[in-house]
Amino acid sequence: MSSESVRLVQRYVTGQRVIHWAGVVTFLLLLATGLVLLVPGLSSLAAGGVSRLVHRIAVAPFVLLPILYGLFNPQRARELIVESFTYTRQDVAWFKRMPGYFFGSTKDLPPQGRINAGQKLHHAGTFIMFVTVTVSGFMLWFGKGQLGPDGLGLAAIAHDVSMLGLTVLLIGHVYFTFVYDALSAMLTGWVTEEYARLEHPQWLAELPESAIVVK
Ligand code: HEM
Repeated sequence: MSSESVRLVQRYVTGQRVIHWAGVVTFLLLLATGLVLLVPGLSSLAAGGVSRLVHRIAVAPFVLLPILYGLFNPQRARELIVESFTYTRQDVAWFKRMPGYFFGSTKDLPPQGRINAGQKLHHAGTFIMFVTVTVSGFMLWFGKGQLGPDGLGLAAIAHDVSMLGLTVLLIGHVYFTFVYDALSAMLTGWVTEEYARLEHPQWLAELPESAIVVK
């Protein structure tokens, strides 16, 4: 029997993880049903109006989940937004190391806080495009009488470009999750101290010793 113990740090509590994964399911549903409505080759799947109905139903959790998160965790939500839009010199230096980081090298990486510069960019982009995809979506849904063909055309472009941007960000987000073996942060909420030291040393240094749990 192995007596090796592991030192763990908590990154996300249950509520954050539930909202994250509910958001992922909702986003993928919106993407799949949106593609069925958009791509001519998939139009046969749109027959009967089921994909349009599912798309409209999925809008409710997509819009409400982040709002609920903000209402129940106002401090964490504020921190996440402020951190995502605040870039330091260390972050600029981190971006210069990005090509190596992309291929799994953490050599000479400038120390990072709770979220690294790449995550900041992902979260900021996600936040901006969440707003644009939502506003343009509601314009397409409720603006038919008022906007006219040009207005509706512009809303459709904003909607499709935002969804494309969110999908590109998602691909990068999932890629880095697996390259750096970060999934446990969002599955169990915990990461090893070693992972935290490698990816977020400034954040780890700010935590009290009691935040590290030996298992
Ligand atoms: C299968 C798809 C996905 C996987 C595997 C995944 C994985 C993860 C992981 C492992 C983290 C924690 C990283 C850390 O240690 O900080 C995370 C955080 C995050 N993810 Fe995802 N994610 C997925 C989809 C998405 C989608 C679709 C969005 C939004 C459109 C998203 C937005 C976020 C945000 C904003 C955070 C940071 C949360 C915070 O710091 O409070 N993720 N994700």
